[in-house]
Amino acid sequence: MRSLLDAARECLDATGIDAKIALTQRHAAAFLRGESAVPADAPPADPIGMPGRPPRPALVHPRHLPRRGFGSSEGRAAFVHSIAHIEFNAVDLAWDAVYRFRGMPGEYYADWVRIADDEARHFTLLRGRLQALGHDYGDFDAHNGLWEMCEKTAHDGLDRMALVPRVLEARGLDVTPGMISRLRALGDDDTAGILEVILREEVAHVAAGSRWFRWHCERRGIDPVTKFRALLAEYARAVLHGPFNIEARAAAGFSDDELAALMDAAAAA
Ligand SMILES: [Fe+2]
Ligand SMILES: [Fe+2]
Repeated sequence: MRSLLDAARECLDATGIDAKIALTQRHAAAFLRGESAVPADAPPADPIGMPGRPPRPALVHPRHLPRRGFGSSEGRAAFVHSIAHIEFNAVDLAWDAVYRFRGMPGEYYADWVRIADDEARHFTLLRGRLQALGHDYGDFDAHNGLWEMCEKTAHDGLDRMALVPRVLEARGLDVTPGMISRLRALGDDDTAGILEVILREEVAHVAAGSRWFRWHCERRGIDPVTKFRALLAEYARAVLHGPFNIEARAAAGFSDDELAALMDAAAAA
């Protein structure tokens, strides 16, 4: 039996674009066939560092990313690139959820391996679209905000689940429907179709975040709404923007009180 933690680590460390995606798909398939598991006697995780990344895209402060419209073909490609970058990061975020937090139930690891595999597929779809537009992943600058939140929450699986899936990934639920409408209006049905697949599947990713956030809260006797409010105030001021997609978030496990917490925190930001 192979160690799932070693597999996760190998995917995190991979620097090449193709290598990270191919390893993710191979290790996820092996896990689903029952060929890897988390060893009972696993030592603690190594401290978090930067995962393996290709030399491009260059990572810059979000302020230095040019704002482009959808209208020009260059703008469209830059937009597809920005979503592809999120998906590429999401592969690492999912593997880090597997690798970093020890002693979780088997379903936790199964959730995050499946999500890593989904993210690799999302990235591949978008990269194909980017190539059809005459570009490739790496052609535009990008930011490192997703991984930074991963580092900030590396000390506690509860904080990680609250802030990475339920704040950062969940942002996709809020903004993607509007992007799909704009792409359809421009006649870009290919990109719109990919975003529809992604939107549908991301609900399940955020729902996994909700499930494991609650699991941690229950185990520690913490009220999830009070804790979620406190974490939003502590970490999420700069990244929380309404309006929120209430329907998709409710489907992804947000209670009415948590939705109210989000709206309060966004209004206070
Ligand atoms: Fe995704
Ligand atoms: Fe996701």
